Amino acid sequence: MNGSPSHNYRTRLQSSDPAIHDALVGEEKRQQAGIELIPSENYTYPEVLELLGSVFTNKYSEGYPGKRYYGGQKYTDFIEILACERAKKLFRGEHANVQPLSGSAMNQAVYLGLLKPGDTILAMELSHGGHLTHGAPVSHMGTIFNFVRYKSLPDGTLDYHAIAQLAEKHKPQMVLCGYSSYPRDLDYAAFRQIADSVGALAMADISHYGGLVAGNAMANPMDFGFDVITTTTHKSLRGPRGGLIVSKLKHAKAIDKSVFPGLQGGPHMNAVAAIATTLLKAQQPAFKEHCQQVLANAQALAEQFHKHAVTLVTGGTENHLLVINTIVSFDINGHDAQELLDQVGITTNKQVIPDDPLSPARPSGIRIGTPAATTRGMLEPDMMKIADWITDTLNNPNDANHLETISRQVNQFCAQFDVPGL
Ligand SMILES: Cc1ncc(COP(=O)(O)O)c(C=O)c1O
Repeated sequence: MNGSPSHNYRTRLQSSDPAIHDALVGEEKRQQAGIELIPSENYTYPEVLELLGSVFTNKYSEGYPGKRYYGGQKYTDFIEILACERAKKLFRGEHANVQPLSGSAMNQAVYLGLLKPGDTILAMELSHGGHLTHGAPVSHMGTIFNFVRYKSLPDGTLDYHAIAQLAEKHKPQMVLCGYSSYPRDLDYAAFRQIADSVGALAMADISHYGGLVAGNAMANPMDFGFDVITTTTHKSLRGPRGGLIVSKLKHAKAIDKSVFPGLQGGPHMNAVAAIATTLLKAQQPAFKEHCQQVLANAQALAEQFHKHAVTLVTGGTENHLLVINTIVSFDINGHDAQELLDQVGITTNKQVIPDDPLSPARPSGIRIGTPAATTRGMLEPDMMKIADWITDTLNNPNDANHLETISRQVNQFCAQFDVPGL
């Protein structure tokens, strides 16, 4: 009999809660059998899975290393200090906070820590690529702060002159850049200059491409004098779910106070341990190579879609993600495209496109990205096959036999690639 801890834990779970056990096994099979193309997802490291399930989950650590409200912090202080040191080194910042429980909490902590309710934040419009927490009217942040939104031009570029004019008119206290579904890189020098022109703070939410910044594959806003960057620790960074704030030293106190006690209670120390390990991994040459491959794979996907005359928002990509206009390309809305691709084992997500005439529930596009597929070891020729399957699926929505054939091919293809941690 296999006596490994994971085997024992599985056996225990199977007898104590078979329903959850079976769902876990089902999800493992799903992650193995299909191609994961949601750009914000990834396969984390086995070490991260182990640490998330470790005894660090038992520990309450309200406060900060050396200044906690509970005893027994010898090892939790050690891992948090190490995680912060690694974060500062990797992102070239003077201060780091690794306690935010998620990306949303980390952004809220920065706004609430550095600004006053009612202050103005200049940020990217949601349908043009910004995130919900960048002031979408449905988010609480959109009601607490006065968000003014800039958009991309029809060719996908940002008109920095127009953003500067918006800043001049609205005099924001913060200029925010970063995105969830914008397939281009940003000009951080221009954003810093715009912020300086009105005496505003410059913040970048690099959640989606934080791993690519850590791996030196994309520019780091801290190198352009930004006040603060935020990044989720999952997504391209491949760590546990969580948030990380890196800033100039002058903002350290305000940010720390805002995270705890302002917004949160006890940090999840199992996640903090896993973040520390993730940041060590991100310093390795292998991770830098992986990041280059993430970008090369996105280019390969874009080129193959061009061959199939598929319309990409902004015409292509400069990062890890692409947005396909499924209405123009296939006369199918993003919701239906996502469902069809689910049928053949390709996981994507529906996506609003700039100034989308359709609703967010049935928008005009889908968003795809390469971090997870690259983590499994897929390379450029594999991306070409994937673009072929996506195009073939969306061109034949009513041909059940054909979709079944594609599904079998996807399944056989995936069997060649291990899933880390499984
Ligand atoms: C740019 C950006 N910021 C913040 C978040 C929020 O992260 P979380 O889902 O962990 O709250 C996301 C998540 O997709 C994101 O893309």
